Amino acid sequence: MPYAHITGWGISVPEPVLTNDDISKMVDTNDEWIRERTGIRERHIAREDQFPSTLGVEAAIKALKVANIAPTDIDLIICTSSSPEYIWPPTACLIQDQIGATKAGAFDLQGVCTGFIYATNMAAQSIRSGSIKNALVIGTETLSRFINWKDRSTCILFGDGAGAFVLQASDNPGGILSAVMRSDGSGADSLILPGGGSRFPASESTIHENKHYVHMDGKAVFRFATRVMGQAAKEALEKANMTTDDIQWIVPHQANYRIIETAAKYLKMPLDKFVINVERYGNTSTASIPIATVEAVEKGMIKNGDKIVLVGFGGGLTWGALVAEWTGPVPSKRNVHPEQYRFFARLRSLARRAIRYLEGLFSRREL
Ligand code: UT7
Repeated sequence: MPYAHITGWGISVPEPVLTNDDISKMVDTNDEWIRERTGIRERHIAREDQFPSTLGVEAAIKALKVANIAPTDIDLIICTSSSPEYIWPPTACLIQDQIGATKAGAFDLQGVCTGFIYATNMAAQSIRSGSIKNALVIGTETLSRFINWKDRSTCILFGDGAGAFVLQASDNPGGILSAVMRSDGSGADSLILPGGGSRFPASESTIHENKHYVHMDGKAVFRFATRVMGQAAKEALEKANMTTDDIQWIVPHQANYRIIETAAKYLKMPLDKFVINVERYGNTSTASIPIATVEAVEKGMIKNGDKIVLVGFGGGLTWGALVAEWTGPVPSKRNVHPEQYRFFARLRSLARRAIRYLEGLFSRREL
């Protein structure tokens, strides 16, 4: 049975920064309160011309470059987002088209902030089963578009960004070693974006009732998160026949510094084994775990051979964790430039649209 290794990684974070002081000019809050209760100092907010696919494509191209493989080598793209570009088509298909992944199946996986754990595990299991060789997993958010900037209990928390992993099959042991995925739909109301789906289709009243914004029972989510984070990490470690002594790093979902502190206490681990960057990005939902992981790799914290735990929680309610051995890119003599495929991808996409248009004209005449 092949192993599924993480061989490429990349992130994309929009430049504009929104500080706590900036938010305190919009709602009744202040920097001290936000830092004390959440650990967040600032977050990045997408420009008007940036969408989940825009950020997702940039992160994906970087990940392919690190893995040194072409978009045409990808068999499967799983995109996970709490702020997808549309209800459908999947954001994964928009990314597939823009990067030129001509042989890839592409779908979105909705697991809210736990989405990246679920998606990485699903990609790894597809590789482990032998049905595919190369997968691209992307968590990408422009959640700022769904935030009520008059609601101080939510607008201080979230930020935009994207992160991506390339997973590849290998006979060498390592890569994704175990995973747990859990859910409890009885808590669906605790964290919800109610408007725009089939239950509350967009209408004047859904807009008046602010249904197109994130609604959250912060205290309930806080209690749930502090209960499940440590538990999930422990269960994933047990599945891999490991203990906390065997791992070098834990990369938790970056929602709130205090939640991470509680998980550390539960696991009896020092906080300096946790990768934490919530102060600079806020909660980027599905993108938070890959952004934190990639930063830790790029800073030289996570090294080849390290065993790590990725652990998340979020709306659904959902939570999960996975244990991985970080092995890095597969050594290769070829030098691939995935960014160059974008030009041809655009040409191909335009040609396909033109053909579809002409086919439409032609078939109308036939009728
Ligand atoms: O991906 C998962 C996403 N969600 C989460 O992880 C959220 C988890 N929950 C949390 O992080 C925390 O519950 C919050 C940061 C959202 C809130 O912190 P808290 O310590 O639970 O505060 P609270 O809701 O109990 O509010 C305490 C007080 C209240 O005032 P009173 O009733 O005691 O007078 C709030 O009205 O703080 C007030 N408050 C604020 N004050 C200043 C609430 N939000 C703010 C604010 N600035 N932004």
